[in-house]
Amino acid sequence: MNAAAALLSLACLALIQASGSGANAEFNPLHHSGPASPYFDAPAQFGIPPSTPVRCSVDQAAYIVRHGSRFPEPGSFTGWQSLFAKLQNATYTAKGPLAFLPSWVPPIDDGPHQPLFLSSTGSKEAFDLGVDLRKRYRLTKGGDNFTVWSVRVVDTATYFTLGYLSQGNYLSAADENRGHVITMPDSVNYTFADSLTPSAGCPAYSTGDTSSKATTFRGTYQGKIADRLNQYLDGLTLNATDIGVMQDLCGFQAEISGDTYFCDIFTKSEWLDYEYAHDLNYYYGSGPGNPVSATTGYPWVKAVTELLVTGPKQTPSDSHFAPPPLIMSFTHDNNLPPVVSALGLWNTSLFPSVYPLSTAGPPNPHRTFRSSYLVAFRGYIALERLSTGPHHVFAVVGADARAQINNAVVPVPGCASGPGSSCPLASFATYVNSRAAVAGDFVGTCGLRDVQNATGALDIFTTFPSDAAQTSMLLVPLPYAHTP
Ligand SMILES: *[C@@H]1O[C@H](CO)[C@@H](O)[C@H](O)[C@H]1NC(C)=O
Ligand SMILES: *[C@@H]1O[C@H](CO)[C@@H](O)[C@H](O)[C@H]1NC(C)=O
Ligand SMILES: *[C@@H]1O[C@H](CO)[C@@H](O)[C@H](O)[C@H]1NC(C)=O
Ligand SMILES: *[C@@H]1O[C@H](CO)[C@@H](O)[C@H](O)[C@H]1NC(C)=O
Ligand SMILES: *[C@@H]1O[C@H](CO)[C@@H](O)[C@H](O)[C@H]1NC(C)=O
Ligand SMILES: *[C@@H]1O[C@H](CO)[C@@H](O)[C@H](O)[C@H]1NC(C)=O
Repeated sequence: MNAAAALLSLACLALIQASGSGANAEFNPLHHSGPASPYFDAPAQFGIPPSTPVRCSVDQAAYIVRHGSRFPEPGSFTGWQSLFAKLQNATYTAKGPLAFLPSWVPPIDDGPHQPLFLSSTGSKEAFDLGVDLRKRYRLTKGGDNFTVWSVRVVDTATYFTLGYLSQGNYLSAADENRGHVITMPDSVNYTFADSLTPSAGCPAYSTGDTSSKATTFRGTYQGKIADRLNQYLDGLTLNATDIGVMQDLCGFQAEISGDTYFCDIFTKSEWLDYEYAHDLNYYYGSGPGNPVSATTGYPWVKAVTELLVTGPKQTPSDSHFAPPPLIMSFTHDNNLPPVVSALGLWNTSLFPSVYPLSTAGPPNPHRTFRSSYLVAFRGYIALERLSTGPHHVFAVVGADARAQINNAVVPVPGCASGPGSSCPLASFATYVNSRAAVAGDFVGTCGLRDVQNATGALDIFTTFPSDAAQTSMLLVPLPYAHTP
């Protein structure tokens, strides 16, 4: 390298560090909108680089993914319509940051078909993840059959699969480069742990859910925001309900139509309160603040850990189906925090006063549990199996496992001695076994001892079809057909 090139690369390094240095980075409300955030890579909370460590490769990985960005649920859409009616019916003037309000129109132009379903942004997020994971891992070769697992979020699963398979020309090889989506019932109470929505099959889960603490916290700031914004209005009064809808509209409208009007009218501290209310909702609803959370997340952790220990492309001895080396599960936001609880992730003792999260606020900046980093649209938790050893020799010298949340590597508590803060595979398996005691037995803890057919095991990755999980299958893409 000559001197000029060396200087240039030093300069690039300095630039990258400056723009990534938090303090100077511009505040982006879309990174603090909790479940309304479009996908973004979470920052490295533990300073561990997300790239695969040098001289390692990933030979197997398991993901549990929330669906991509979508239109509002019907209930939230009703809230948007009420706000619209209020803004349309009043005779008022709006100035300053609210000058756009009289001409604002909700970004839904096909009411019967859009609410609840993916937006184009969500489809792209799913497709992009398929492309990214194919490039990142190169775990399957062109032409291979590829299988993913999904509850009713089949559009996300399908766009992922299309992205994953979006290479080569297989028009004349109709059996190659095919994807299969194994689907199962969504949020039902008769498939128990054999599900990607297991909390719906656990009666005790709802009794542990104290997410209403988030509503109490919202009561401490929404009215104050309304008071601040009402100074820009004459003839109209916004209240706490309106503020809730308007903060949600920042993320949703950015995703649906690209408009960010509502992102610009709130202050940084108002966004941090909004984000914290979401954190309380997930922490006390589906996360570690619900004592039954780990119980419902454990079956997934146990099932994929067994596969990681067995190794890629192997059929475990008591089953007949070998899952691909990249194991993809598609589900809803509330099914991710239980996996965090079951794995005991994000539980740092560096700041002993952080957990349980204070329900009074202010938001503790030292908390590791952040809904924006976990359940943003298309957010995920991944476990990667690393094969360490010279890259060009495909012998596995040793295997390690590491956890990732939205591309940020998160250490397994007490087990981060391997490359890239990974945990040696045998120790990881021991750790996961020890978490069984924390999680508790699914059937017993959920109150299902007297229920016929209740199961605490997730068998979908190695059993097809699974009667207990009631699985069925979709082919992606559908074969091309000529229209006469
Ligand atoms: C305005 O209010 C009336 C009566 O309250 C209601 O019927 C009408 O739908 C509202 N207008 C809009 C645009 O929602
Ligand atoms: C592809 O995988 C599915 C399971 O997802 C299996 O049923 C099917 O037989 C496989 N097809 C081929 C050609 O291997
Ligand atoms: C499942 O839900 C149905 C309908 O709400 C209810 O009758 C049944 O008892 C529930 N089963 C279990 C195991 O909770
Ligand atoms: C806010 O105002 C709307 C009508 O404009 C009303 O439906 C809603 O209940 C109000 N919310 C609160 C918290 O008062
Ligand atoms: C962290 O671990 C402690 C002790 O096991 C537990 O009480 C707490 O709920 C955990 N917190 C999180 C965020 O997992
Ligand atoms: C239990 O499983 C058997 C066999 O699949 C089925 O016939 C029966 O209806 C199930 N019982 C209940 C209560 O779901």
